[in-house]
Amino acid sequence: MSNLSNKKIILIVTAGIAAYKAAFLVRLLVKERVNVKVLMTENATEFITPLTLSTLSKNPVLIDFVKDKTGEWNNHVDLALWADLILVAPATADTIAKSANGICDNLVQAVYLSAKCPVVFAPAMDLDMYHHQSTKNNIESLKKYGNFIIPAGFGELASGLVGEGRMAEPEQIVAYIDDFFAEKQCLKGKTILITAGATQEPIDPVRYITNHSTGKMGYAFAEYAAHLGADVIMVSGKVNIEAIHPNILVYTTPTAQEMYEVCQANFEKADWIILAAAVADYKMKEVVNQKIKKKEGQTEMTLTLVENIDIAATLGKQKKDTQLFIGFALETNDELANAQKKIVKKKFDVILLNSLKTEGAGFATDTNEITMITSEGEINYFPLQNKKELAKNILIYLSEYKK
Ligand code: CTP
Repeated sequence: MSNLSNKKIILIVTAGIAAYKAAFLVRLLVKERVNVKVLMTENATEFITPLTLSTLSKNPVLIDFVKDKTGEWNNHVDLALWADLILVAPATADTIAKSANGICDNLVQAVYLSAKCPVVFAPAMDLDMYHHQSTKNNIESLKKYGNFIIPAGFGELASGLVGEGRMAEPEQIVAYIDDFFAEKQCLKGKTILITAGATQEPIDPVRYITNHSTGKMGYAFAEYAAHLGADVIMVSGKVNIEAIHPNILVYTTPTAQEMYEVCQANFEKADWIILAAAVADYKMKEVVNQKIKKKEGQTEMTLTLVENIDIAATLGKQKKDTQLFIGFALETNDELANAQKKIVKKKFDVILLNSLKTEGAGFATDTNEITMITSEGEINYFPLQNKKELAKNILIYLSEYKK
């Protein structure tokens, strides 16, 4: 991430328990070479000290209109004009309500009302407050006025309740605001459905059939697509990776059948579909419902497998001309010919051919190389590189290919 370098950001910290995360947020921003000025409401200083935030941001923290009763004032207009972006994190129900209604009873509100740059709110509050109709209306008003909202996440809340209301994690917030400074938001407005990782087909309650896919390539596509402005629906086998960007909605689907059902339910609304999952071609004819025991004297065992659903082929039959349908192929021989056959068989617009021949390419590595083949016969080679860079280059290429 480098779009944040040398940017000027005002971080407004308001009075919620998530204010403690402001320290992490400032550290991450400073690490990205952002010039951060922190503003706080008076009550926020009960949750985290200005000293912590001024030390981390290397700038004085501003709270009042008048500096320490010296008669010198903090000029809200100059402050607002200085910033490339204003981030309100955590944004309490109170600050959201005031901002939505033009109330100006402290420095924070005066700076907000004077802003000409994008303003991003990261709400944090208790579950019931977040779901209250008045809060919902206020958030809608903020959006209507051109502000941006990083939705609160789901999790344990300070009240002991579990639900929506947790402030997005600092890493997610940084990834989100990084997008404002990305040169291109070429996937803005697009919904992209991505499958990733290996499926697990149960044999009995403790065993399953799977493969070596780690999901790294699919998740790299998801992160970068979200970074370029897309809303991403990630349908993932069980993986050890977490999606960071808040515009990625993750469904975990261990089996091919579950993966298919979520894909099918979201297929209509997807503009692009990227099928990066390594789906088991066969599953148990019947899953054994008790652990299979080792039998004395038995030296061989046969499992009867049946064909699994082919997600790509099933969705390919429903594909509309407006959709871009992208598949992967992993081949060990006759690579190009086999990949081309899959384009026809599964009705892909584009196939991304992985090779296992090159060292550093394929499963479980951080790098990969791809040969891209389109249904029109165009062939493009993306040399061995970091999977994230590769995802970026392919997505930017495809955004030109299918506008
Ligand atoms: N795919 C899928 N559902 C399956 C099998 C594969 O959606 N049951 C998708 C993969 O995600 C990939 C593409 O189809 O985008 C090709 O996958 P691959 O495993 O290479 O092809 P197969 O059809 O399984 O053919 P083979 O195993 O014979 O190479």
